[in-house]
Amino acid sequence: MNNPVELKNLHIKAGNNTLVNNVSLTVKEGEIFGLVGESGSGKTLTAKAIIDLLPEGLTYTADKIITAGKDMLTASDEEKRDHIGKKIGYIPQNTVFYLHPLIKIKNQIGDGYIQHMHKTKKEALEKAEVLLSKVGFKSPKTVLNYYPWQLSGGMRQRCNIAMALMNDPKLIIADEPTTALDTTVQKQVMELFKSINEEMKLSILLISHDLGLVKRYSHSLGVMYAGQIVESGCTETVFNEPGHPYTRLLIKIIPSLKMKKNEPLTEIPGFVKDKDRDSKGCLFYCRCPKAMDICKEGVKEHTDDTGDHYYRCNLE
Ligand SMILES: Nc1ncnc2c1ncn2[C@@H]1O[C@H](COP(=O)(O)OP(=O)(O)O)[C@@H](O)[C@H]1O
Ligand SMILES: [Mg+2]
Repeated sequence: MNNPVELKNLHIKAGNNTLVNNVSLTVKEGEIFGLVGESGSGKTLTAKAIIDLLPEGLTYTADKIITAGKDMLTASDEEKRDHIGKKIGYIPQNTVFYLHPLIKIKNQIGDGYIQHMHKTKKEALEKAEVLLSKVGFKSPKTVLNYYPWQLSGGMRQRCNIAMALMNDPKLIIADEPTTALDTTVQKQVMELFKSINEEMKLSILLISHDLGLVKRYSHSLGVMYAGQIVESGCTETVFNEPGHPYTRLLIKIIPSLKMKKNEPLTEIPGFVKDKDRDSKGCLFYCRCPKAMDICKEGVKEHTDDTGDHYYRCNLE
């Protein structure tokens, strides 16, 4: 079976400064994979490396990057651009800027379809109409005539999702797709991703800093900390048997629905390290309630018998 993403030992640097260190992950066919971690942990850069969109000035190495069946390490720039344009629906983190606010939806939603799939504008608009209705718009024709600034955040995100589906991609990468939305709209948009995943059998790499959301919507997940994946596996297993103290703390601070409105969360003291991310020791050392002296020197990696549940920690 073809996995939509296979990433092995990704390193990303800005000059000599390591930003992402030794990240490996697999998004399996038909699943929602949640990539979760605090701000600055390297989620966006990891996603951008997978689709060859790293910002200028950053360099990377990896042992393997297979994206929707294509070996990204051997393909030419042109092959990569064409492949990503056809096979990946990307919803970047700051979606306010994804659709141009001053261009009508109908004059931009089909751009990728026309360019990569060699279709006419008429064909693009027909398809856009079908997809806009699929993502929940009752009168897609009216929406096509709107400017993005006339739409609410939730409606804009639905348009972004319709646009990401235009080329019948193999994989959707959605970077913090609901962060800017209020709770009710957030739930509607996530339910839409869920139905797209189930009905269209589409794999989704869902990036979020919200472990509660990832718990609810992902089949597998990777927990990132300071540029590394500290734990990964099937969502149920990771929640039932979290191996890394960071995962355990995150699980503890998921706001519970039963919690009173103004009750403070038990936060994790300290900040994510943004220097020395290539150190051999544990990067969570300074914040870890269970830190031991050996954690400064090195970290033990654990993988269960199935090869699915992984975590890095010196605790047994
Ligand atoms: N273009 C860049 N140049 C230098 N450092 C960057 C650049 N983009 C991101 N970073 C740094 O890389 C780290 C990971 O960033 P990012 O992947 O955006 O984190 P996340 O998406 O998890 O919030 C952060 O410390 C960030 O400051
Ligand atoms: Mg990000």
